[in-house]
Amino acid sequence: MSQRTLVLVKPDAVRRGLVGEIVSRLENKGLTIEEMQTRTMDGELADTHYAEHVDKPFYPPLKDFMTSGKLVALIVSGDEAITVVRSLAGATDGRKAAPGTIRGDLSLSNRENLIHASDSEDSAKREIALWFPDN
Ligand code: CMP
Repeated sequence: MSQRTLVLVKPDAVRRGLVGEIVSRLENKGLTIEEMQTRTMDGELADTHYAEHVDKPFYPPLKDFMTSGKLVALIVSGDEAITVVRSLAGATDGRKAAPGTIRGDLSLSNRENLIHASDSEDSAKREIALWFPDN
């Protein structure tokens, strides 16, 4: 079933010059880039995007990190795109993510983990509406 999902290529990836590498991995898999924009996440957008995490102890440093510089927001589509992008991204903690995944190959951090991808159909709908209100 074709799905759309929201991907953020995070500020660490932009700083490290890994945007092309990450977007290539999505394209090479056969997924389609429907929209792609360089954006900055402000505090208000962070609180809305990460509503389920705002009370967690890791949230304040996560918010500082996510608002620390430019990121790239994408709508990615394809067959089973939500789970396919999550599996390309790998486990949240780059130190534990499997080799071959984006985080497993390129991140050594639980926070600065290069990519965010919607985790369900409901979050994909909510996050696409938040980042791309015209879609
Ligand atoms: P993301 O997929 O964007 O969703 C929530 C983010 O919070 C996650 O990626 C990580 O960047 C961050 N995160 C999740 N768990 C932790 C944790 N235990 N410590 C630090 N950061 C975390």
